[in-house]
Amino acid sequence: MIDIHAHVLPGVDDGPDTLEESITLVRSAVEQGVTKIIATPHHRPPRYDPKNVEEAYRLLKNRIKELNIPLELYLGREVYSDLNLIDMLQDIKPLNMVDSDYILLELPSLKIYPTHYTIFDELLQRNYRVVLAHIEKYPYLIDDYETLSYLIKLGFHTQINAKFVVTQTKKAIRAIKAGHVHIVASDAHDMNKRRYQLKEAYRIIARKLGTKIADQLFLENPNRVLNNQPLQVVLGEREKLSLIQRILCQI
Ligand SMILES: [Fe+2]
Repeated sequence: MIDIHAHVLPGVDDGPDTLEESITLVRSAVEQGVTKIIATPHHRPPRYDPKNVEEAYRLLKNRIKELNIPLELYLGREVYSDLNLIDMLQDIKPLNMVDSDYILLELPSLKIYPTHYTIFDELLQRNYRVVLAHIEKYPYLIDDYETLSYLIKLGFHTQINAKFVVTQTKKAIRAIKAGHVHIVASDAHDMNKRRYQLKEAYRIIARKLGTKIADQLFLENPNRVLNNQPLQVVLGEREKLSLIQRILCQI
């Protein structure tokens, strides 16, 4: 699996405090079958200071190599879409994922404002490939199929967390079946409440929708982010499921 959303860098956001904790966290990812991680520390100044991110990335990457942990680490950001976003993009170049056109965008938790649509429009005009982070965390969006469909038609992509699949399976499967999910990622922060649950989530989706769809969500589309290629549409039409799969996932 390839994880495109994880808070594994030490001392830069609400992820691990120390390098040792970061190593424990990435080891737990490897145990679950993760081979590549894009580290995505919160980019939300002034709450989180971005100035130490690159150093923390180098530190962890070197330590992973020293310890021969079979994991490739890349650098991205989880960029909070406050109203200064466009200014931020002008000032700070490396907010994209792995120097690609992809940007992982976090939305406000309660609502988006009309100004956000100006930001969305600006991002698309600048040819960013936007992945909306953990859409299940936005109550105004996850149940609003009309708006989600509209944003996806405009060219936005979406990501859900593994925890959502594990804890709210029916809702997650429904969103995938509606074609509203391109990627499942960990959003892992620690070894407790926000731990790695990718393996469990993969198994659930493979059981409900088949391994082909699970691979698209956990491996193929994440790999396309790494390689700066367009993402595949995952499901979206009930007809794409076989009769047996439809019977198995009566939810
Ligand atoms: Fe996150």
